[in-house]
Amino acid sequence: MRIERIGVVGAGIMGSGIAEVCARAGAQVVLADQAPDLATASVERITASLQRGVDRGKLAQAEADVALARITPVETLAAMSDRQLVIEAVIEDPETKLKVFGALDEVVEDPAAILASNTSSIPIMQLAMATQRRERVVGLHFFNPVPVMRLVEVVPSLLTDDSTIAEVTAFAGEALGKRVVRSKDRAGFVVNALLVPYLLSAIRMLEAGFATAEDIDAGMVEGAAHPMGPLTLTDLVGLDTTKAVAESLYEEFKEPLFAPPPLLSRMVDAGLLGRKAGRGFYTYD
Ligand code: 3HC
Repeated sequence: MRIERIGVVGAGIMGSGIAEVCARAGAQVVLADQAPDLATASVERITASLQRGVDRGKLAQAEADVALARITPVETLAAMSDRQLVIEAVIEDPETKLKVFGALDEVVEDPAAILASNTSSIPIMQLAMATQRRERVVGLHFFNPVPVMRLVEVVPSLLTDDSTIAEVTAFAGEALGKRVVRSKDRAGFVVNALLVPYLLSAIRMLEAGFATAEDIDAGMVEGAAHPMGPLTLTDLVGLDTTKAVAESLYEEFKEPLFAPPPLLSRMVDAGLLGRKAGRGFYTYD
């Protein structure tokens, strides 16, 4: 089955990026967000990203224009009724995601349509149990910035069937051109289970006065050839998302290295969420 009609729920940074790459791959995308005007605002973000792609020679202006025209912003889930694949990318909060999955299961008419989640760490099994189509629910985890990062994690639950796995793997791998890795349904999957304790260690190091933020980041960029240091990366991912992933990992494994450090919690309380808020470990224009 060729997947041509896609829904994306949640028009934040990840949802916008997912809608963009799907539209660039030729799909018709309905992008929904309940917050008034958020889906429309996200189209501005996508326009800017497509322009960056054009400026860097990754696609022609005409292709960018066609991709943008394939994205329809909406404010309710009703427009998801005829979708073949819906990718949920709302905030990393179990209750919110469970509600979205329950609602999508009612709205999406074809029982064979796939409901996927971009969750970083919430068990896919829990999301599937909010639906009547448990075998058609799967994790499809993208990385920020979505148009640039080549990886997608495919995460089946205990009840996901083989055809669902094959269809989303073909979609992410062949249609989107991503490198697909498969992970079991364990908090953090492959990448965040490795990445997040590293980010938390950098925050603890800063909190302890071990080194400055600039020196911690320079250490990993210049000394380990990472494209950006851990505190800059936490600002990119979002401190709220980092904390939510850490909490899921801690809840699952009870390892102290997964517990969010107090500095991270206080910064989230203060709204210092990183790049999207204009301030995190660094300030942004
Ligand atoms: N569309 C298409 N291609 C684009 C693009 C766009 N909008 N914007 C940039 N590119 C391409 C560029 O052409 C360039 O390609 P090239 O290497 O073939 O020339 C490449 O992407 C890099 O672009 P830039 O030169 O503009 O950017 P930088 O070199 O400054 O790198 C970065 C920016 C890609 C963000 C880099 O710093 C990086 O890789 N950082 C780490 C990001 C990371 O680790 N993300 C994962 C976070 S974890 C996560 O998301 C999981 C979640 O669950 C928490």
